[in-house]
Amino acid sequence: MNKPYTAVPSFAGATFKAARAALALAAVLALHPAHAADASNGKVLADSHNCAACHGPGLNKPVSPEYPKLAGQHADYIYWALRQYQMGTGNPHLGRNNPIMQAQVQSLSQNDMKDLAAYIQSLKGDLVNKK
Ligand code: HEC
Repeated sequence: MNKPYTAVPSFAGATFKAARAALALAAVLALHPAHAADASNGKVLADSHNCAACHGPGLNKPVSPEYPKLAGQHADYIYWALRQYQMGTGNPHLGRNNPIMQAQVQSLSQNDMKDLAAYIQSLKGDLVNKK
């Protein structure tokens, strides 16, 4: 006779739980396929939003020292920076609460920000990783 299911050792139960969680996650990801960032749309957005007005030509020559260089920066970093400006932290003294940049990102969707990030990463810039 088969053993009752409850007799399965607990580590197997944990494995089963993990497998179920992985399946659930896969289902969620299938419903929301990852957006393949589109750098050419990022360029259209950067032009229409006039990012260069402050970040300079090629987003590499800021018009003033308090405007950072962007060209060549990693896309992940840029995406999260934009997302953080958009969300704010509710604390004007902490985090990405710069009112200038907060105003720039309000109309952007998450995909817009991913496209902008891909475009920015694709630009040649002076930023360097010192080793
Ligand atoms: C009116 C001027 C202005 C415009 C236009 C502007 N920015 Fe900015 N940007 C700033 C300033 C000022 C900062 C620094 C803010 C801070 O101290 O957090 C900044 C910071 C950033 C950062 C963070 C960089 C880092 O290294 O942490 C990103 C990313 C960025 N801007 C992207 C953009 C994009 C993309 C656009 C166009 C959609 C844009 N900016 C338009 C002024 C501007």
